[in-house]
Amino acid sequence: MSRPPADRKPTSPSADAMAEVLLSSDLLETLPDAIVAVDCDGIIIQVNSQTQELFGYTRAELIGQTIEILVPESYRSQHHQHRANFAKTPKTRRMGANLDLHGRRRNGSQFPVEISLSPVSTEKGLVVLSAIRDISDRKRIVEELRRANEEVQRKTAEQIGEYRSRLASIIDSSEDAILGKNLDGTITSWNKGAERIYGYTPEEAIGKNISILAPNDRPDEIPRFFGKLRAAKASSIRIGARDEGRPPP
Ligand code: HEM
Repeated sequence: MSRPPADRKPTSPSADAMAEVLLSSDLLETLPDAIVAVDCDGIIIQVNSQTQELFGYTRAELIGQTIEILVPESYRSQHHQHRANFAKTPKTRRMGANLDLHGRRRNGSQFPVEISLSPVSTEKGLVVLSAIRDISDRKRIVEELRRANEEVQRKTAEQIGEYRSRLASIIDSSEDAILGKNLDGTITSWNKGAERIYGYTPEEAIGKNISILAPNDRPDEIPRFFGKLRAAKASSIRIGARDEGRPPP
């Protein structure tokens, strides 16, 4: 292990004692997560049994190795640099908070991880404790939820489609003229009943103003009728408002 350069922050005896305690396997064994402690060169100096279980290595196989033994091959080269950057401003934080992180087991298989880093200054230099959590279950649940949600949306869209086509066939099979229009009076839908009664095909009627249905000698009858309808709606709102003690709009 390299000798501490002159600029290393002097540590108090209690800090070293604390680091000693922190690295003591008794304490590490009580922690739920897999814990790996590395020195300033990234060399593994301590692991707990949860780490052995999670990665499939024995303690003896890990101690003295660089931490990259647990990092997927494709990330190893840049990981050294990451550690060097971390050592410049060491602070307790989540590692790769916005990254999709994976660890690599002894058998080469990978699994999704969440890792928090805790730096400890000791007389021998910076020690970093990484607490590693296998988040496979969480990922699986999130994926299942996503799929279930997708399924619900697909089924809902399917059902809405069914309702729409059922409604369309009811409207189309009706003897009555059933037509839709927007607030400007533009015809937006036109069923077979309307075609039979008014003689316009849907292509001819849709998009036209509803006043095409007004008798030639009373061209403004329909706009006046809808005007009344709007006024009635407004007055029913006004009446409604007055009855409920609200000021009319
Ligand atoms: C089991 C232990 C560890 C595993 C599996 C692991 C794995 C990874 C992976 C896969 C990345 C993303 C690489 C990329 O996208 O470029 C990463 C990033 C990083 N790792 Fe580790 N790592 C481990 C331990 C450590 C330790 C002990 C340190 C610090 C000494 C460290 C420091 C970093 C830093 C600084 C980054 C860049 C992202 C960030 O700044 O948060 N890692 N690590």
